Amino acid sequence: MKLRLDKYLADMGLGTRSEVKKAIRKGLVQINAQTVREPEHKVDTKADQVLYCGQPAAYREYEYYMLNKPAGVISATGDSKERCVVDLIESRMRKDLFPVGRLDKDTEGLLLITNDGDLAHRLLSPKKHVDKVYFAKIRGRVTWEDAEAFRQGMDIGEKKRTLPSELHILEAGEISEVELTIREGKFHQVKRMFQAVGKEVLYLKRLRMGPLVLDESLKPGEYRTLNTQELDILC
Ligand code: URA
Repeated sequence: MKLRLDKYLADMGLGTRSEVKKAIRKGLVQINAQTVREPEHKVDTKADQVLYCGQPAAYREYEYYMLNKPAGVISATGDSKERCVVDLIESRMRKDLFPVGRLDKDTEGLLLITNDGDLAHRLLSPKKHVDKVYFAKIRGRVTWEDAEAFRQGMDIGEKKRTLPSELHILEAGEISEVELTIREGKFHQVKRMFQAVGKEVLYLKRLRMGPLVLDESLKPGEYRTLNTQELDILC
């Protein structure tokens, strides 16, 4: 891919477009060992070696991070009051990262953060019915009748009933533990499904989205880049 030098540097988070233009004009950028002072110079992102202030600045078109979202952070790219999931990715280079789908502020677990819009579309399109697996703690005893209602699809106040989902009861008691697989992503879907059977979600964590499984070594708030195996199955 060929890109203007100022865009290349700004995309890599090295400053705003006007900051990097100034740096280029000052002679702080070398391409293939030659100082280049024209912000409009076209860089070949694969072939050219770019140095910014003496440091290599390789171009990354896409970034992919797996975050174990902690409670208390919103699934957004920026907000004047709240902490956003993208702010947690301290090693990010690109400014156009976004979360693939939304988890509620109090939900934990798997969130993919990327700037790859095509991948996001493949995972989120309502037509694709990508599996989402959640672990939840529920107030009250979850029963097989509840599991049957989930399997049949239920009315949660939308035009259509929910698609059939699989509810596995891991522990039934005053506080029950369950694993739920849904193939849609409606607003507050899991909470509304339990509400429909008269129960309340006390804790919710996403474990899987399509083929992408939460790395359980990541503590809430921790993240890592996707590995090559994960990228191969997703991209
Ligand atoms: N369903 C919910 O109710 N909340 C989430 O965060 C995700 C799914």
